[in-house]
Formats: sequence, C-alpha cells, structure tokens
Amino acid sequence: MDSLLDAAHSLLQANTELVEYEGETWRYSVPSRSVYPHQWLWDSCFHAIVWSHFDLTRACDELRSILHWQHADGLVPHMVFWRSEGLRKHFWHYLESADGWRFRQKRPWTSALTQPPVLATAVERLVQAGVDDFLDDALPRLERYYLYLAERRDPDRDGLISTICQYETGLDYSPAYDRSLGADPARPKSILRALGRVKLANKLRGYDLDRIFARGWHCEDVLVNTIWIDNLAALKRLAELAGRSDLGDWAEQKRAQALQTLLERSWDADRGLFFNLDGADESRPTVKTIQCLLPLLLEDLPPEMTERLLEHLTAANEFWTPFPVPSVALDEATYSEDSRLGGKRLIWRGPLSMNTNWFLWQGLVRHGETRLAAHLAERSLDCIERGGFNEFFSASVGEPVGADRFGWATLAVEMAAAV
Ligand code: GLC
Repeated sequence: MDSLLDAAHSLLQANTELVEYEGETWRYSVPSRSVYPHQWLWDSCFHAIVWSHFDLTRACDELRSILHWQHADGLVPHMVFWRSEGLRKHFWHYLESADGWRFRQKRPWTSALTQPPVLATAVERLVQAGVDDFLDDALPRLERYYLYLAERRDPDRDGLISTICQYETGLDYSPAYDRSLGADPARPKSILRALGRVKLANKLRGYDLDRIFARGWHCEDVLVNTIWIDNLAALKRLAELAGRSDLGDWAEQKRAQALQTLLERSWDADRGLFFNLDGADESRPTVKTIQCLLPLLLEDLPPEMTERLLEHLTAANEFWTPFPVPSVALDEATYSEDSRLGGKRLIWRGPLSMNTNWFLWQGLVRHGETRLAAHLAERSLDCIERGGFNEFFSASVGEPVGADRFGWATLAVEMAAAV
C-alpha cells in the first residue's frame, strides 16, 4: 500500500505544471505528458482527491487553478490551455473555444465546454481531509457553477442536465453516441467525422445554448446526470457546513427532481438498465455501455433497480469480465479490446478506466456489496501492478491500452484501502 501511495504521489508530482500568471504561481497536474498536455476539469477533480492523501495545499491548488477560469455565466471549462505550446498543432482547440477564428493574433485560454460536475465531491473531500480556509473561496464558485448547470443546461426543465458535445460527458467515443450522431460503428473515420461536425456546428453557433438546444446535438447522459445528482448532495452538505441553508435547500430540491426524472425516464424496466436520453425527443441508444450502470453510485436507488443493475454488472458475458468493468459490455458488437480502431485512437469503446471503476466501487460499498467491491478493487490493482498508472486497460487480459503515466489512474489508492 505504501509503495502504491508513493508511486501515485510521484506520478502526480511529475505531471505537475507550475505557471506564473497575473503575479501568482498556479499549479495543476496534466493528465498525461505524452497525450494530454493541458488541464482538464474532471481530471483535476480526481487529482485533487488523490492529492488530499499527501498534500492538502497542493490539493487545493489543483482546484483553484481550474476554478480561476470560471466563465462569467458560471460555466467551469473542461479545458484550460495554460501553455500555448501545442496549441498550434491542435487547431481543433479553436472549435472548442468561444474565441473567434483569428488564429495568429490570439489563442483560446479555455474551452467553451464543461465536464461531469465532480467539483462538489472534490471540494467536500478536501474539507473532510481538514482544509479549513478553502470552502469560503470555493463555495460561491460552486454555487454559480451548479446554478449555471440547472438554469442553462436543462432546456426541458425536467431536472436532468444536457451536454452539447460528447467531450462534455468525458466518454468521448463511447458507442452510446454513435446512433444519435449518425456514425457508422464499423467505420472509425465516420465516428470521428460525426464528432467533428458537432464541434463545428457548435462553433458556428457561437456556443449559443438556445440555438444548440433548438437545432444541434444534445444528450441527457446517464453518467453525467448520476454525477450531477450525487454532487448536488455534496453541495447541500457543504452549504449547510457554511451556514447557507438556502443553498442547501435549493440543492436538495434539484437533486430530488433530477433523481425522480432519471428513475422515470432513463430506466428501461424491460432491460433492467439506464439509458441516455438523446435530443429533444429523448430517444434512447440501445447499446450497453458503462453509463447504463453508473446510477449504482446513488445510495437511494430503489432496491429492485439496484438488483437488476447488479445482475448485469456481475454477468461474465456483459460487465464482469476477468478485469472489470469494461466501458462497453463484452457481448456488444461494438465491444473492442483496444483504444485504437483501424489505426485511429477511439477511446471508451471497451477498455476499462480507473475513474469509472472508482465510481462503481463506491456504489458497491454504499449498497453493502462488500465482496463485489473487494473483487473490483483487487482486479483494478492487478491492472496497475502489471501496466502502471495507465489511462485504459483491456477488460479481458488487463493489459494497458491507453496513455501512460495517467493522472486519474491514481484513484486506485482509494480502492487499495478495501483490499
Ligand atoms: C479524454 C477523456 C476525458 C478526459 C481527457 C483528459 O478526452 O475521454 O474524459 O478528461 O481525455 O484526460
């Protein structure tokens, strides 16, 4: 355990960037030096949670550096481009920013997208670990962010929030989005092209949410909304701690509404799984992906739903592979062992990731499934032992198949406590 902690610490340290900006020094860890050289929102939340095991000041810095870039409307961006190196090579960053097209004169500082709202959980973990002066700074920003999500990202006012590009779900090329994008799963190029069209359309609409919700691609994703619901509970507890019962009541009321809608609309009683709701007509994809299981994280999921989800999770031909939990069920035609298809990097189409394992592991613990939780923790640690802190692992043989020296894989230290 000690050596795992040490290894996690030195990886996050080695991935740390220091930037002097506006007279201050900012610190954050890049997800992976080889593939992801910028700052990402939910990655930084996971990094902060792991940093809180070693260094509370550093953990706070990880969140401060992303919260600093909160937009005027409350959005916390999914990417911050602290360094301009690498931007010129990646013209696509412009398609994710609200900046114009003048490539030479200016560069985007942030994307105009966001990511699954894990921020309240991350702040709560730091507070629980003993940070005492951070909540005063962080709470007003959290309040604006969650209000933004409730007010601007819920066009049908049903309590569930909508994403406008699959990069916002954090599950980039999951086959759950193939159908609504009109992509042909058998042709990797068609998947990439379909996503490119969404990015371009968002940019041409100037990231105007009304226009995007009226005509563009959008989705009420189960993973995003499970995290939304779970984080509204964390926000409520933080608000109460700070003596803000008004904010706590608001968060609780939003949480209850979102949970009720998720149970009513996303649950497929015939199949015993949750599915995303695509577009204004809320049609559902049919492919079984990690999203379908994520509501296991929610403590107050009705027991009959928990049981049905557990049946799928523990079925060897679906999600209980030798190295669980694959991002796509094994018996799906789109399941892939690798993160590359036809020479293209297409992630989230089969291999497992430590962040989704961490969420599901917490769900199992919360539902009293200690045996399953321990098995999942053990297998996750096996992956790390054989392949290091990698972004993805093959679900059948446990080999690393993603970016190496990858930050959020260090979440394994949390699961190690259970083994
Ligand atoms: C990939 C992942 C996304 C993550 C980013 C940086 O795009 O799909 O979830 O935040 O990499 O690690």
